[in-house]
Amino acid sequence: MGYDPRSMRYGIFGDIHANLEALEAVLAGMKKERVDVMVCLGDIVGYGADPAKCIDIVRGLGCTTVAGNHDFAVVDKINVDFFNTYAREAALWHREILSDEDKRFLSGLKLVEYVDSFTLVHATLYSPELFEYIQTSYDAHLAFENLTTPLCFVGHSHVPVTFVQKRTVSFTMDSAVKVELNAKTMVNVGSVGQPRDENPDASFGLWDTEEKMVWIKRVKYDVEKASRKIIKAGLPEILAERLRYGR
Ligand SMILES: [Fe+2]
Repeated sequence: MGYDPRSMRYGIFGDIHANLEALEAVLAGMKKERVDVMVCLGDIVGYGADPAKCIDIVRGLGCTTVAGNHDFAVVDKINVDFFNTYAREAALWHREILSDEDKRFLSGLKLVEYVDSFTLVHATLYSPELFEYIQTSYDAHLAFENLTTPLCFVGHSHVPVTFVQKRTVSFTMDSAVKVELNAKTMVNVGSVGQPRDENPDASFGLWDTEEKMVWIKRVKYDVEKASRKIIKAGLPEILAERLRYGR
């Protein structure tokens, strides 16, 4: 249950969804927060207009990255028939326009990674390949059963929330959470490129090993520009509209 003895500030980001404007804003936000190490929770692609540029940036960062369901859908490692119409349309367009090199990068991502004292997984630890959602304390309880580190970061639902397991599992929507040594903590850091908590600002997590604090940080970005690109690309209008409302 030990934490890193060194003082480190980790920037945890995911669910970028091909939204270049949001990704750039989050990278600037992490720089401002003096992040030492970045890690990525996957779903680099899907939904948005800039999949290649977002892959290029994440690959260039060289940060530990896990696979999201949209990353695997684009490279046909999961069936797009399970997606709703709009998600499917975007995934198929990404499949068409991405290079073989970009697809190889997405295809090579692992489902679970370990960085120092924490675990990274896009969805759940009990069946990461199924990409199920952690939406209730019971879902979190199942995920905690498979958690071997004191701390875990997840994405997928696009809604920031923290689950804490002591004798029972509780949750909080607070944007500042003290990580307790006698508990296990699982943090959903929200979404860079398609927030769904009715706050359109891009979201990322900040983990400070000295303060023993996790913060959910929000940054404003040019939502209108990202939306216009989605329309211009011929993608469903609803994918542009939802960015304005954070849904
Ligand atoms: Fe996602």
